[in-house]
Amino acid sequence: MRILLFSGKGGVGKTSVAAATGVHLAAQGKKTLIMSVDPAHSLADSFDLEKTLFHGATFDPVKVADRLFLQEVNINRELKRHWKDISSYITSVLRTTGLSGVEAEEMAIFPGMEEISAMMYVNQYRKSRDFDVVILDCAPTAESLRFISLPATLDWYMKHIFAFQRGLLKAARPMLNRLSPAELPPDSYFRNIEELFQKVEGIDAVMENPQLTSVRLVTNAEKMVLRETQRAFVYFTLHGLTVDHIIVNRLLPESVQDSFFAAWHASQRSTLAEIIRYFYPVPTKQVPLFAQEVLGYERLQLMARQLYGSTEDPSAVTRDTPPYSFMREKDHYEVRIHMPFTVKGEVGLFKKNDELVVEVGTIRRHIGLPTTMTSLVPVKARLNEHMLVVEMKEPA
Ligand SMILES: Nc1ncnc2c1ncn2[C@@H]1O[C@H](COP(=O)(O)OP(=O)(O)OP(=O)(O)O)[C@@H](O)[C@H]1O
Ligand SMILES: [Mg+2]
Repeated sequence: MRILLFSGKGGVGKTSVAAATGVHLAAQGKKTLIMSVDPAHSLADSFDLEKTLFHGATFDPVKVADRLFLQEVNINRELKRHWKDISSYITSVLRTTGLSGVEAEEMAIFPGMEEISAMMYVNQYRKSRDFDVVILDCAPTAESLRFISLPATLDWYMKHIFAFQRGLLKAARPMLNRLSPAELPPDSYFRNIEELFQKVEGIDAVMENPQLTSVRLVTNAEKMVLRETQRAFVYFTLHGLTVDHIIVNRLLPESVQDSFFAAWHASQRSTLAEIIRYFYPVPTKQVPLFAQEVLGYERLQLMARQLYGSTEDPSAVTRDTPPYSFMREKDHYEVRIHMPFTVKGEVGLFKKNDELVVEVGTIRRHIGLPTTMTSLVPVKARLNEHMLVVEMKEPA
């Protein structure tokens, strides 16, 4: 099963491009699911589905055309399905602080629940082979980054906190319950966490495998949007995901000759050139601004034709080198991280346990080292074309 993840700044056209891609794949004979991971779902709207018929029903895959399904992960539904014990415990704690029942229930929805739920589905579909392709229509960049960094965070939590907390509570509960103002988590809470963890286990490896998962960044030919796209590119790369296409949406067609748009034409042209240069060798696709909103099946088909012509397979694997690799050189080892346009001054490096920690701006990535390299320390880094090369040696 192929996973295509569409991300980018708010409003650039992620949902439209994701939906158009789904329409195209289904027409090519692939059983495709488009899943919205954005809490502000607009996927069903993009297909212009009859609200009375479909509203609320998209929390499970809904068939919208031959071989084409939609799913909008719904947090209220997920709370009941997968988070029952966790949320009822958190709600009970919040109640002891004086919040009313409904408020406490609202507060018990915390960031990340939706993303974890979506990941559980992706993992489940992968195992059951229900679909040939799953397309993820993500929330604007910041939240999609939370989505992709969750598996690592969860893993860390399970390794370092979970067992400890659970064990401690088991032993000390009778005493603590008498002292603590709030009820302590019951074992069902821990069981629930464990179940969730099992359901997402393995998904990080799937997302970091370029044969299975590709990221497509949607952008507009505007300076401000481009900056965010560049940051997104670095973050996805640092998280080990492979960006294999940049999609520049809403380009003003040449046929628009009104003098009002003259400056727009000029700035779009130069920003587009900048985009192509920056992301090279990652290819750039272009989509014009249409005369109308991209709404309903036919207009999605029109957009798909712009994107893929009639024959291109959007699920094809076009970049199979992962964003970083480990190499052995004569007298040292190297970690090579594919990372265009980051200047050296912005990159921080250090070693923490078995991991190399790379900091770019405010984002930090732990790169798990292969066992042969765990004793090494980073000595220097150089930027080589589009590659950040970190040299690692035995400590002196
Ligand atoms: N090439 C285009 N031509 C005309 N309209 C477009 C084009 N691309 C997208 N739109 C329209 O722009 C609006 C926003 O698009 P869309 O919802 O796909 O963006 P998004 O990136 O998913 O937004 P959000 O960040 O809110 O999820 C929609 O009304 C859509 O129909
Ligand atoms: Mg959207």
